[in-house]
Amino acid sequence: MSAQVTAIASLKDHVGQEVTLQGWLYNRRSSKKVVFLELRDGTGIVQAIVGVNDLGPERFAEADRLAQETSLTVTGEVRAHPKQPGVFELGVRAFQVLGPVHGEYPITPKEHGTDFLMDHRHLWLRSRRQVAILKVRAEIIAAIRDYFDGNGFTLVDAPIFTPNACEGTSTLFETDFHGDRAYLTQSGQLYAEAAAMALGKVYCFGPTFRAEKSKTRRHLAEFWMVEPEVAFLDLAGDMALAEDFLSSVVARVLDRRREELKALERDTTKLERVQKPFPRIRYTEALEVLQRAWDARSAEGRLALDPEGRPEKRPAFGDDFGADEETVISSAFDRPVIVHRYPMELKAFYFKRDPEDARVALGMDVLAPEGYGEIIGGGQREDDLATLEAGIAEHRLPKGAFEWYLDLRRYGSVPHAGFGLGIERTVAWLCGLQHVRETIPFPRMLNRLGP
Ligand code: 4AD
Ligand code: MG
Repeated sequence: MSAQVTAIASLKDHVGQEVTLQGWLYNRRSSKKVVFLELRDGTGIVQAIVGVNDLGPERFAEADRLAQETSLTVTGEVRAHPKQPGVFELGVRAFQVLGPVHGEYPITPKEHGTDFLMDHRHLWLRSRRQVAILKVRAEIIAAIRDYFDGNGFTLVDAPIFTPNACEGTSTLFETDFHGDRAYLTQSGQLYAEAAAMALGKVYCFGPTFRAEKSKTRRHLAEFWMVEPEVAFLDLAGDMALAEDFLSSVVARVLDRRREELKALERDTTKLERVQKPFPRIRYTEALEVLQRAWDARSAEGRLALDPEGRPEKRPAFGDDFGADEETVISSAFDRPVIVHRYPMELKAFYFKRDPEDARVALGMDVLAPEGYGEIIGGGQREDDLATLEAGIAEHRLPKGAFEWYLDLRRYGSVPHAGFGLGIERTVAWLCGLQHVRETIPFPRMLNRLGP
């Protein structure tokens, strides 16, 4: 086979020419005289047509027996589809099997249960939907990097092994580090803060870990987070950065991944509304929305009951917002909404207190529309040495592990702020997926360590 090796995605440039494709058999249909081989190569899927008159009866019968996921090379002439514009097919002149299929490929075109698919994640990745999701994920990551690289930020990687907690001690994965206790990082933020005092505008981007016992559609034990951190930035500037950043990432995905979003049947008109400015509401305003919703349910006798039969409590200051509350809050908006100034007691030790209202922290969450919930969390950091020391004590954190972090307040402390965006929740939102387990190549969750 001497024809030029080509990717399925570039067939449009080779109409009328003979090319060789390398890929896997995705599906096969046949009639008496023609076998249709659906071939995939990671860049696309093409129909390769084997005619009994072109290859002779023996090769034709062989093509008709090819099992799903056989790897093969196929050589033939590229033709425009007679009826569908923009679709191309291959008139097969020759094919060669590279790797046969031993036994039966476990994932057939019929429906499978989620557990079965998750157990075969290493193979499930080959399916059309999963390929589309992985491409959108890669585009989101590239867009993030380009945004920060192009806006004066320096990438500074944070360590994975850490001696200190960042987001509270209840979700730490503990490990033994040559005899010392170490944790898998929950967030690179504290290190990004150190780097921001060196470089001004930085971001870290890597895997982070939470030993959360939550089995929800938004929680992973291992997830990727990008965390910008900026010196001389306050909460208002942080919200403006989050809004500019997020709208730019969404625009880039819409621009470059239309085809994948279409394959995923994503309603892109909803994503097109993700334009600046994003609405900003205070926690207390969000609380009023929840209280009004509670009052309405109460008046209609529709309050939810807990397992002991007690009706749900009326939302009150100090309550954290779970997925249901976030959905109620965000459903009033057609684009992401920024909720800011949460009660201090809900927040990690490093948040700066609002000088105008001591009950609340200068923090913010960005809630994605359509019920996707919190995708960004961040805010302004406490920059005063004594106040931060008191915060560490109040949260019962071991001060020794934070001495280096306190140094940032000892030597030229400045106001600064940043945030973290969870990649998987962003992928779920942009792809329109029900669960984050499909947004990462190999998810790690409460009940899943393999494959
Ligand atoms: O709100 P979080 O916990 O914030 C931080 O970790 C800060 N230190 C970030 C910063 O200011 N530099 O997490 C940030 C985001 C969340 O909004 C969510 O998108 C994602 O990380 N996230 C998770 N994603 C999947 N599974 C989990 N268990 C997650 N926990 C947080
Ligand atoms: Mg958060």
